This record gives sequence, C-alpha cells and structure tokens, in this order.
Amino acid sequence: MKKIAIFASGNGSNAEHISRYFFQKDSAEVHLILTNNPNAGVLARAEDLNISAVVFNREEFSGSDKINDLLLAAEIDFIVLAGFLWLVPLNILRAFRNKIVNIHPALLPKYGGKGMYGSRVHEAVIASGDSKSGITIHYVNEKYDDGQIIFQAEVAVKPTDTADRLAAKIHELEHAYFPVVIEEVVEKL
Ligand code: GAR
Repeated sequence: MKKIAIFASGNGSNAEHISRYFFQKDSAEVHLILTNNPNAGVLARAEDLNISAVVFNREEFSGSDKINDLLLAAEIDFIVLAGFLWLVPLNILRAFRNKIVNIHPALLPKYGGKGMYGSRVHEAVIASGDSKSGITIHYVNEKYDDGQIIFQAEVAVKPTDTADRLAAKIHELEHAYFPVVIEEVVEKL
C-alpha cells in the first residue's frame, strides 16, 4: 500500500475527494495532510476523515529539513499538492523526484505562475475572453506551474460565466479526474 501525503493551503475539497477515493482502494492511501495555514478548511476535513494533519510555518517547510524529515520518517511514497500555494523547496524535490504532482485550475501554460491561484486564475480567463478553460495536472519542479504536464481536461467558458461559476465547473472536473490520475501515476511507482 503506497502512502500519499497531501499539501493544501485552503478549503481542501480536492484533498477530501482524493482521500475518500483511496478509502476504497488497496493500492494507496492518504496517510497525511499538511498545511501552511492554521485556519485552512482542510484541517476540519482531515479530522472528519480521521487522517493525521500537520501545520507548519515557512521556516519549518523551506528553511530547515523538518518537513522533509517528517515525510521520510512517515515513509511517504508520493506527494500531492491540492490548492497548495508555496513553492516546494529543493530538499523535498530531491527526496521525491518525479513523485510530486500539482493541480492547476486552468490550461497551462496559460494562466500559471506566481500569484496565479484560485479565483485570480478564473478572473484572468474571463477577462481574456477565452472560450475554454480547464484543469492541468503536472509534475512539480522548482518553479510555479512549470513541471511536465500529465493530464488536462477542458471546459467551455460561457459568456455568462462569472469567476465563481467557472470555479465551480473547474472544481467538478478536478474532483472527477484528480484522484484517478493520481492512482494511475502511483501505480507506476
Ligand atoms: C483548486 O481549484 C486548485 O486547482 C487551485 O486551488 C483550488 C483549491 O481548491 N490551485 C491553484 O490555484 C494552484 N495554483 P480546494 O481547496 O477546494 O481543493
């Protein structure tokens, strides 16, 4: 059974969907949920799901080996970023080479990079007049939203869509595809 750790900074709906998906699988489980935000909704979800959670600060994450050591001590096999807003430091990238994936709520390489997260992405897509958006699941490297793309799915952007409406459509896609894509990648480890 492979052990997955999920990093999330906010609400955590993806973290919950992924966790529940693997409740029914023998191949992998979500072993740990980690957040940089002590007020993140993902913490209440972790408690409901009965999954251990860890809150950390910037020094612990990228100024020391504390979080990397914790992941290694827990024998984590695979890391998922699900709405996680900090760059992953080199010590963790090296320890988990090609074993960290992120989801981005747009069709990369468009609408990615530093500061492009959550509603800001959807507002930018709507302001551009693009007729489609979607989700991108990609490997994580030392830059924001830059690693090799694993999977994309598209959704139409209607002239009547608001950023909130588009966010809801994107979340539906994320919840449908992210757990399955993680399973496919983890199976090949
Ligand atoms: C998701 O839409 C995810 O794609 C996005 O944050 C949301 C988190 O939702 N991630 C980014 O924007 C990263 N650049 P959730 O907390 O409900 O899973």
